[in-house]
Amino acid sequence: MCGIIGILGKSDVTDQLVAGLRRLEYRGYDSAGVCTIVDGAFQRRRAEGKLDNLAKKLALDPLPGRIGIAHTRWATHGAPTEDNAHPHIVGDVTLVHNGIIENFKELRDELSAEGRTFASQTDTEVVAHLVARELERGKSPIESVKAVLPRLHGAFALAMMFKGHDNMLVGARLGAPLVVGIGEGENYLGSDALALAPMTQKIAYLEEGDWVVLSREKIDIFDRENAPVTREVTLSGVSGAMIDKGNHRHFMQKEIFEQPVVVAQTLQAYLKPLEGKVALPIPEFDLAEVKRVTIVACGTSYYAGLVAKYWFEKFARVPVDIDVASEFRYREPVLEAGGLALFISQSGETADTLAALRHCRAEGQKIAVVVNVPTSSMAREADLLLPTNAGPEIGVASTKAFTCQLAVLAAFAANLARAKGKMTAEEERDIVQHLAEAPAALNAALAHDEEIEKMAPLVAGARDVLYLGRGPDYPMALEGALKLKEISYIHAEGYAAGEMKHGPIALIDDSVPVIVIAPSGPLFEKTVSNMQEVAARGGRIVLISDAAGIAKAGDGAIATIEMPDCHPLIQPLVYAVPVQLLAYHVAVAKGTDVDQPRNLAKSVTVE
Ligand code: G6P
Repeated sequence: MCGIIGILGKSDVTDQLVAGLRRLEYRGYDSAGVCTIVDGAFQRRRAEGKLDNLAKKLALDPLPGRIGIAHTRWATHGAPTEDNAHPHIVGDVTLVHNGIIENFKELRDELSAEGRTFASQTDTEVVAHLVARELERGKSPIESVKAVLPRLHGAFALAMMFKGHDNMLVGARLGAPLVVGIGEGENYLGSDALALAPMTQKIAYLEEGDWVVLSREKIDIFDRENAPVTREVTLSGVSGAMIDKGNHRHFMQKEIFEQPVVVAQTLQAYLKPLEGKVALPIPEFDLAEVKRVTIVACGTSYYAGLVAKYWFEKFARVPVDIDVASEFRYREPVLEAGGLALFISQSGETADTLAALRHCRAEGQKIAVVVNVPTSSMAREADLLLPTNAGPEIGVASTKAFTCQLAVLAAFAANLARAKGKMTAEEERDIVQHLAEAPAALNAALAHDEEIEKMAPLVAGARDVLYLGRGPDYPMALEGALKLKEISYIHAEGYAAGEMKHGPIALIDDSVPVIVIAPSGPLFEKTVSNMQEVAARGGRIVLISDAAGIAKAGDGAIATIEMPDCHPLIQPLVYAVPVQLLAYHVAVAKGTDVDQPRNLAKSVTVE
């Protein structure tokens, strides 16, 4: 992944570069670096670990220069050390890179055979060597870049500077995002519009294979055949203000508490409560012909898709295939003509999901995208754009984006059901009413925050935790386990309650907390039977249910969390809250870095 930024400025740029990196930290945060040109020569500072380490270094040893590139890294090739941190300098070129050069070994062997030596283990340094070699052969910077780009396989976004050229930045992208920002006598490159937001709102999105030469005065964009092209300049609308935590301790906590508001704000675009109707933001998109839906996503977004499968099949009676994106592409899925492929993503940039989307497009599928970042690649490539209006999500562990995805997917399921003639006007009115109740139910769930905080020590000391659920609560068990793993580093597994006896039951003893997600309803008794199997083996049960469920089955649990009574359709949204809060408070009790957990990144733009 990694975040990159480049600035051709009128005055010193280091502060702006570092501020840009702060806005890109969601893309990785294991090391960072910046390089400028001062009196024709490169000046560089790099630091291992979080961006603050680089900022401290720069405070002690400031870096002047009106042109610069900078990078925040999520390690792929080589450990997150200072030597592996970008920018890499080889001879007269320095560059930063996001993505993976898949043929780097072959290129490195070729360069090594010529006696070239490497200062890092990265694939990026190989690109710097290739460009430096062309420069040494007497080519200009632009001719050198042109010669090297066709040799790179894989995914990359690159920003480069050349010794002695303090009015030139060169960028290139293939399979990783890169935008050009247009300023007043200044120009910029960045991984996204957010990084550039304090400096400019005028953004040109580079297309696959594009490369670009920037000076302070002009921007020249070329396609992969090296033909000059123009790319539309749009106003990004992304706020320049740095998003803050308000009076919350962590972004994750703030985002959990924002859910009633952002779910309401999201649903506004999909519900017409007075008419008792659901509506798509693109009303002319015809769902009547959809025979099958293929859902593809990663991480938490995938679990939103798993919940949606239950809804699409139950309400619309449309069969659903669902895969994690990294598996989907390589299993040669059979995609029928006229099928609808639905992609779910907070960032809209996840490399595997984006590649799956392009595969489906090539296979003639209609593309629907549930996405939170409206300027993202997936949003721009959708036939049917289904936005979640969750606002920027900063905490690496997804929370509010997830519940907004569920809200959109529930409304979409109802649209599909109506289009397929599987839902009466009465049933539609009922669904609209229940969806409109979701924000209030989320508020009621959040009221249990303090109680959940008090029970966090029951889980914080555990080595393993099991989450159990049935039906749509099974994906919620998976999501609960993922949240706990991500931010507290406790091993957790989500299991279909009925499947537990086929394996995980062997793990149960009195040191294993078992979180059971079981709202009242047709599956309740069955889940409770599985819970009894856990209790019989000494497992320590935390039951998340409603008042009736807790009255029936709460005895013997070490703790219970009471959720409001709510319609089954909105239960997954509401039950997301306690699993998020539990993971959050356990992580706080353990003292981990809640918003930037180790080894993770918010947006994964490598395969
Ligand atoms: C990363 C994030 C997760 C997220 C997943 C999918 O792993 O840490 O929180 O669920 O990517 O990201 P997307 O942006 O496609 O929803």
